[in-house]
Amino acid sequence: TGGTVVSATGRVAADVLVDGETVVAVLAPGSIVLGHDLAASVGTVIDATGKYVIPGGIDAHTHMQLPFGGTSASDTFETGTRAAAWGGTTTIVDFAVQRQGERVEDGLAHWHELAAGECAVDYGFHQIIGGVDEHSLAALPTLIDEGITSFKMFMAYPGVFYADDAQILKAMQVSADTGLLTMMHAENGPVIDVLAEQLVKAGNTDPYFHGKARVWQAEEEATHRAIMLSHITGAPLYVVHVSAKQAVEQLAVARDRGQNVFGETCPQYLYLSLEEHLGARSEEWGSFEGAKYVCSTPLRSRAEGHQDHMWQALRTNDLQMVSTDHCPFCMKDQKELGRGDFRAIPNGIGSVEHRMDLMYQGVVTGEITLERWVELTSTTPARMFGMYGKKGVIAPGADADIVIYDPNGHTSIGYDKTHHMNMDHSAWEGYEIDGHVDTVISRGKVIVDDGAYLGRKGDGRFVKRGLSQYLI
Ligand code: URP
Ligand code: ZN
Ligand code: ZN
Repeated sequence: TGGTVVSATGRVAADVLVDGETVVAVLAPGSIVLGHDLAASVGTVIDATGKYVIPGGIDAHTHMQLPFGGTSASDTFETGTRAAAWGGTTTIVDFAVQRQGERVEDGLAHWHELAAGECAVDYGFHQIIGGVDEHSLAALPTLIDEGITSFKMFMAYPGVFYADDAQILKAMQVSADTGLLTMMHAENGPVIDVLAEQLVKAGNTDPYFHGKARVWQAEEEATHRAIMLSHITGAPLYVVHVSAKQAVEQLAVARDRGQNVFGETCPQYLYLSLEEHLGARSEEWGSFEGAKYVCSTPLRSRAEGHQDHMWQALRTNDLQMVSTDHCPFCMKDQKELGRGDFRAIPNGIGSVEHRMDLMYQGVVTGEITLERWVELTSTTPARMFGMYGKKGVIAPGADADIVIYDPNGHTSIGYDKTHHMNMDHSAWEGYEIDGHVDTVISRGKVIVDDGAYLGRKGDGRFVKRGLSQYLI
């Protein structure tokens, strides 16, 4: 009661009535507290006076327990989804992995085993197709009945998850026929691998050179190629973790000519940079400090203006969503594998706990509006990935996934402060947020109250998603 309910389209003073797991009404202010008929049957009243009441965050790009670079992402479904809950994210969409030679059904079944009964918040899956062949292509349409309506391919990482143009074209034809959304890691992997090898041979082995090898031209080129393959086939295309301003321009051109192409960026591409982070030094790690920030696509040069351009693209809708690409690795024993050769540093940054706060800070600094914050972090992810109605909105019939956010509160991010991800450092050390996640409600149950976790593992259920509601 007493709060401001914020949606993608506006803000209103309203009370929200929840029955069990579901929102049943959004009422005029005072309806519940002023002895209205409803009051008798209301069990718990949460006072949200002076606060924002928003649909729970949806992080549509996470990698719990992802095997990568000879190790595995350090957050389990249990620890990662609990950290998500603390940060106001009530749904994640993780990536089930099919490797080359493996049956898609088996890869997916394994991911279900990893997540079932472990999660603090609701979870869905996209399917990574690591090996595009006649078997995996035939399996793609069967995913729809499983509630998995999007699949990811990689133009990067030759020898690991890589798909060439012929494979991508065939998979996109299935995407066009079925409505499955094609997700693309758009970087020219073969080119990057040559540049990386040459850098290492010349003695440039520090994490900084991860960013020098993964040039923006390789992202622009791959983004353009993916767009053209989508144009040829008619497949809807969603480009993940966009970081180069030139890649955004490719998306904008394609959207202007009417193509169904979309893009997400991540907090790291809005805030962090090649110079300040990949190039960082510390007493503890020396120039290996930058390993904390090794992810792909890489952090870009601030001098080149990529970060400002990402914020602008979020305002102009050239980019539609913000996910984290949460893929955490510890420095000790994990990132350390790449001492002396940046190519062996496992790729990824952990942010699932901080996305809502980091994006809210963009509201405070005037980069985006309050409504756009909700749209980028909850409503569009729900629509893009076939969950809207149940998720992404506070309206009758929706799951009661609700965050009460205090614009007068404060959050200091740091390893010794608000850190619940299973990592030995924070990529977000020292970030100060002029806002605070007060209460997190997941399907009607208060799971976080003023920093205290009240949920339990297994609260989160698998979300069977429908086809994207973003396509015409
Ligand atoms: O560095 C990253 N992004 N690690 C996760 C795998 C991927 O490409 O999304
Ligand atoms: Zn990727
Ligand atoms: Zn990813």
